Amino acid sequence: MGRIRLLPETVASQVAAGEVVERPASVVKELIENSLDAGARNINVGIRRGGISLVRVIDDGWGMDRDDALLSLERHATSKIRSAVDLQAIDTLGFRGEALPSIASVSRFRLTTREPGAIAGTEILVNGGKIDVVRDGGEAPGTQIEVRSLFYNLPARRKFLRSENTESRNIEHQIHLQAIGHPEIGFWLMRDDRILFQLPGTATLEHRIRDLYGVELLQRLVEVNGAASPKIRISGFIGQAGLSRQNRSQQLVFVNGRAIESSLITGAVREGYHTALMKGQYPVTFLFLELDPGAVDVNVHPAKREVRFRDPNGVREAVVRCIQQTLEHARADWQEKFRAPIRPAPAAPVSAQAVPDLHLRPEVTAPEATNRELPHLGAVAGVADPDRVQRSDFVGPAPRLPERHLESAGEVPALHPQERDTKPAQQHFEIIGVLSKLYVLMENANGLVLVDQHAAHERVLFEELRRRMEQQGVPTQKLLLPQIFDAPPRDADWIEHNLPVLQRMGIGIESFGPDTFKIDSLPSFLDVSDAAQFMRKVIDDLKSATNNASAMRLGEEMIAKTVCRHAVKANDPLRYPEVEKLIRDLLDCDLPYCCPHGRPTMIQISLAELEKKFGRKV
Ligand SMILES: Nc1ncnc2c1ncn2[C@@H]1O[C@H](COP(=O)(O)OP(=O)(O)OP(=O)(O)O)[C@@H](O)[C@H]1O
Ligand SMILES: [Mg+2]
Repeated sequence: MGRIRLLPETVASQVAAGEVVERPASVVKELIENSLDAGARNINVGIRRGGISLVRVIDDGWGMDRDDALLSLERHATSKIRSAVDLQAIDTLGFRGEALPSIASVSRFRLTTREPGAIAGTEILVNGGKIDVVRDGGEAPGTQIEVRSLFYNLPARRKFLRSENTESRNIEHQIHLQAIGHPEIGFWLMRDDRILFQLPGTATLEHRIRDLYGVELLQRLVEVNGAASPKIRISGFIGQAGLSRQNRSQQLVFVNGRAIESSLITGAVREGYHTALMKGQYPVTFLFLELDPGAVDVNVHPAKREVRFRDPNGVREAVVRCIQQTLEHARADWQEKFRAPIRPAPAAPVSAQAVPDLHLRPEVTAPEATNRELPHLGAVAGVADPDRVQRSDFVGPAPRLPERHLESAGEVPALHPQERDTKPAQQHFEIIGVLSKLYVLMENANGLVLVDQHAAHERVLFEELRRRMEQQGVPTQKLLLPQIFDAPPRDADWIEHNLPVLQRMGIGIESFGPDTFKIDSLPSFLDVSDAAQFMRKVIDDLKSATNNASAMRLGEEMIAKTVCRHAVKANDPLRYPEVEKLIRDLLDCDLPYCCPHGRPTMIQISLAELEKKFGRKV
């Protein structure tokens, strides 16, 4: 007797539903995607009790006639693809013909729909997958779908639902994704009779972000600049360096208009930020990738949340490059803003020569005795060596600061060659004082700026060291006793192939017999007690890195760790001239607004914000 049976249609749909409909937010996702595919301009979503008791989606799309409405509830019925060939280049959000029958099989379902020209529409009621009623109905042209009592016939599934609040939050996140992905479409969200948002259609992405997340966030975003390569276009907004979140909720990525989760892209974004992102934190991205639909396979995940790229490396590299370039451009804009005059230029003609306009408030006096100077990098070893620095006998307030760096004379090599031609123009900000021996308070055109002196100094040292590494190679220090290092055969092979990379990183390593190596020098700024152990770590890191840029990256990471130890600490009182110098050096950095670990170096509190806080403006 045969043991195999065909499952009844309703059971098959429930099984399929298990994959498509995980929770109320998945219902919302599928219904909104259908509305978007149906050319809707406005989508109105209402939910009750976290979507468990009701999800309603109303659209003004092109609707369906009665036959189509009935067909839409059959499994594998779709208007979006016709043959297997179409699967290779999908340009709609749906394509499987699974969503409606799946949802209808695990809920009490009502569909009303009307085509724009039709006299009457259709209303269909379905209970747990069984069609109960089909009749004339439908109000305005478009489609309205109500999903009540989700999983009422699958108690096991229902038990897995979270609290109403959590489910509501998931739904909101889902609608955020769709609303950001389609700023031209109007979105409404009602939660238990309360309007959560009414987003007008025809908005730009910028306006949409502002409407959903507020102007404060928008101000800390930078626009991604356009084309990345002929095959892939990348646009959108990303958080400026130093802006990050503790979770991924604002890390939005879209591929051809579809919100997706992709470890490939999040990895590339992280790599693009590199030191501009704190460890364990997530960047803020509203990133849009557009590529030929044939170059993306969207048919790889049951909930259509993931995609596969035909050329993953190409995509990865394009994203890394794009993020890096965007952050670099942002820096130029930022400096421009930072250096805008505090007050409008005086009416009287100004003298011809440009003078730096950084100065201390005359009333500020510098407490002298306890103050110290910033530790600087020595010329060769690259370690803190305050004695090398010319002492500047500044006491009390400095009316104006001499041109730039105190250490440019003498034996210390010029660290900023590019400045010869691009001298910073007027720098308009005033130092007000130092708060709690840590935060430098300054005024600029926008209002108040707070600088974390430790983070700022880390950034300055980091870039100084990196520049040296690029120009002169890594300063190295001979080990007193060369270390012999045995490697397992696979690692040995790898080391053999990568000796030049390791040497460029300042590691003096050479072959010393089969599977054995000799290390006789290490980067001098490192404090390594066990060279062999250090090598093992370097090899692990390098092997797990995937591209060539990683040798440099790894070098950067080593530097970042080192500078942290040498940078001026919180509670280290600084002399005022040193504070000024620190700020100046910081402003000349490539990425001035975050330390090498991605923490912000400075915070701007705008005059507008202050006015709001003091109730001068509402
Ligand atoms: N809001 C809507 N307006 C107009 N037509 C719709 C709407 N929702 C669904 N349809 C029609 O019903 C069909 C079935 O929808 P369903 O969501 O089940 O499948 P799909 O969107 O084709 O694929 P997928 O399962 O990947 O979402 C669609 O192909 C579409 O023709
Ligand atoms: Mg669909």
